[in-house]
Amino acid sequence: MDSDKSASQPLRVKVISMGNPKVGKSCVIKRYCEKRFITKYLATIGIDYGVTKVTVQDREVRVNIFDMAGHPIFYQVRNEFYNETNGILLVYDVTDRNSFGALQEWLDEMKNEMGNPSDMSNGVFIVCANKIDKKREVEELEGRLWAETKGFLYFETSAQSGQGITDMFETLFREMVNVLENGPQPLVTPENTSGLSMGYTKEQIEAIHRLKYCKNSFEKLGLKVGATRDEVNKAYRRLAVLLHPDKSIAPGSEDAFKILVKVRSTLLNIAF
Ligand code: GTP
Ligand code: MG
Repeated sequence: MDSDKSASQPLRVKVISMGNPKVGKSCVIKRYCEKRFITKYLATIGIDYGVTKVTVQDREVRVNIFDMAGHPIFYQVRNEFYNETNGILLVYDVTDRNSFGALQEWLDEMKNEMGNPSDMSNGVFIVCANKIDKKREVEELEGRLWAETKGFLYFETSAQSGQGITDMFETLFREMVNVLENGPQPLVTPENTSGLSMGYTKEQIEAIHRLKYCKNSFEKLGLKVGATRDEVNKAYRRLAVLLHPDKSIAPGSEDAFKILVKVRSTLLNIAF
């Protein structure tokens, strides 16, 4: 960054938090801004507003944070605040599958309320999978896949322990400054890319997800139940190349590869 810019006025950016009640939006923000964690649940009433100042590559940035209430009764209050937002924290609770499923509804609400829905493409979206210190209902891979297929960034956090929090906010600030200075970055979606920015592809993530979560062995390989021996072998070879841990850096590749080997031998031994 050049010295002219560093000497200029601070940049002003606006961040909002969205997500179901009790997922930890306020705690995630408090953990970053105040370095503390509140155990007692104090529901946000309408909106909480705060300011924090940060430096991004020599540039002073004034971050206005609007922490939204998750409860539906506050819809009328929060719908005023969606416009002209630079950063969006979409928070869910990994111990509560409903809160993960609700993310799409939060996006829809935002889209409906924005004067100009195309402004959505100027925002940096971060999916925040919170409460990773507890026993989860939603695995990392599932959350990551959802986020990345939408072109959003994905972070796992615990407001309780602080894990992932600083990394997430610093990335958000960096990306917002990047968009303000260089214009919106193209969205990485399944429609416009076959490869993701982090060095692995949607195809790899989907294959890992299938291997880990499909119940039926044929379906784990992406095949119809009762596929032929030849089809099993072909699918095995294709997936082995796709997911070999020496080649794939997609999270979960190693486990998925082990499952792949096991599934193949199970199918070839019992099904033919
Ligand atoms: P609303 O304001 O009602 O929309 O809720 P919110 O999303 O802001 O939730 P809040 O931050 O108030 O946290 C809800 C509850 O979850 C509180 O009791 C917090 O102590 C707890 N909590 C938040 N984050 C974490 C976390 O990372 N781990 C654990 N174990 N508990 C958390
Ligand atoms: Mg709150």
